[in-house]
Amino acid sequence: MNRGISRRFFQSAPDKSNLSLEAASGSDADRRLFRQQRILPVCSMDRVMISVRGLGMRLESGGRPVDVLTGVSLEVPARQFLAVAGPSGSGKSTLLGLIAGLDQPTTGRIVVNGVELTGLGEDALARFRGDTIGYVFQSFHLIPTLTALENVAVPLELAADPDALERAQALLREVGLEERAHHYPVQLSGGEQQRVAVARAVARRPTLLLADEPTGNLDSATGKQIIDLLVALNHNLGSTLVLVTHDPALAALADRMITLRDGRIVSDETGNGGAA
Ligand SMILES: Nc1ncnc2c1ncn2[C@@H]1O[C@H](COP(=O)(O)OP(=O)(O)OP(=O)(O)O)[C@@H](O)[C@H]1O
Ligand SMILES: [Mg+2]
Repeated sequence: MNRGISRRFFQSAPDKSNLSLEAASGSDADRRLFRQQRILPVCSMDRVMISVRGLGMRLESGGRPVDVLTGVSLEVPARQFLAVAGPSGSGKSTLLGLIAGLDQPTTGRIVVNGVELTGLGEDALARFRGDTIGYVFQSFHLIPTLTALENVAVPLELAADPDALERAQALLREVGLEERAHHYPVQLSGGEQQRVAVARAVARRPTLLLADEPTGNLDSATGKQIIDLLVALNHNLGSTLVLVTHDPALAALADRMITLRDGRIVSDETGNGGAA
């Protein structure tokens, strides 16, 4: 089921239950990142990470209701790299936000990592997000009063990591922003802010990484660096990766691609072109 790089990686790995990034055949950046990470949590390829059933989202726009998502059903196995494509306004960001529990759907059911999100209270949802999800927002959502370093350290500090600042610094190095650590978001370019947002999202090695056009503002060299980072998390640490992208080259790295149009899934293809 896993294709491309991921298949090559797993074929070359003697023991899937005990991998480290250093043992992986990725780039130098892959190997440096999370160098303290030794053990991969054991997780079955058959486990379902995301189960979405009959999802509908109706919002008010200009005083009238608009169906932003209609009848969306989707099952994503743990460890899958899923690309989400579709024209502007087709509902990609809305779907990601619902999977992260940032919004409640109008209809339908969402279960993520065994937790039913629909009906959970705000506190429980916040805990679920902190423990399970890394999110790269399309518009970055950095905290304007914190420096780049502090923004990346926030999730680590919330998790009471005693080495939060050191680890945040190492993550900024991985995204090529060591020199910008003490700059505030307003002092950073769009692409630099995007890289800070990616570093923050991956800081806790999330079980599920949701990335909304994470390379949209990046030149191809920097974009590749970010993709290497996300793919390393997916392949080597076993994070499930759901990535919204308009870039066909990036989508081609994925195990599977769904396409949304007018709030509905209109195609669902595996990496080798067959139906999922
Ligand atoms: N809070 C809101 N209130 C009303 N309409 C909304 C709201 N948020 C999104 N929409 C509408 O829902 C539709 C889907 O928006 P969404 O942001 O999910 O699209 P998208 O596929 O991510 O687009 P893009 O590629 O431009 O980011 C759009 O028509 C948008 O105008
Ligand atoms: Mg969007």
